[in-house]
Amino acid sequence: MSDLRPIEVLIPADSIQRRVAELAAEIHHDLPDGVHLVAVLKGAFIFMADLVRSLEGRVSLDFMAVSSYAKGTTSSGEVRMLKDLDHALDGKDVIIVEDIVDTGVTLAYLKEILRARNPRTLRTACLISKPSRRQLDVPVEYIGFRIEDRFVVGYGLDYAEQYRNLPHIAVVG
Ligand code: IMP
Repeated sequence: MSDLRPIEVLIPADSIQRRVAELAAEIHHDLPDGVHLVAVLKGAFIFMADLVRSLEGRVSLDFMAVSSYAKGTTSSGEVRMLKDLDHALDGKDVIIVEDIVDTGVTLAYLKEILRARNPRTLRTACLISKPSRRQLDVPVEYIGFRIEDRFVVGYGLDYAEQYRNLPHIAVVG
């Protein structure tokens, strides 16, 4: 397991940039009065940075950190909150910014705790979805790319804390 490394570019950097701009346009079209983005660290930090720079209008943001994977490439099914938000969500149009929705366990947990904080609306934008891996049927309004059941790294995503710096998404093997 410890010698897994990127072996194949799955989504090139320019395709990611184009798709993120499209997602930003969709979000602005749906919520023209502005949004409050909540990014889930660490995996979503680059997606968040590119998304905010493509978004027109009023944008505020916040970060939270959760941990769902121990060190490997499969989910433990347990989610822990590592860092909570700095700001309240009352009355805001909130978009959760996630890197990957895999089993859906992390997103279901996040939605439950954020919904309890009374946002006006609560939607989700994820860069990557792996539909075949879903255990919980959790809706995602904005999806960058749908991929097969492959473990991927780059553009913020890690394997054992490595490869977040790649500008593209690569499959490890
Ligand atoms: P879920 O709870 O199974 O949906 O897992 C969500 C989290 O697992 C994501 O936010 C990622 O941090 C991590 N994850 C799932 N698949 C991958 C992958 O292919 N590469 C890197 N991280 C992943």
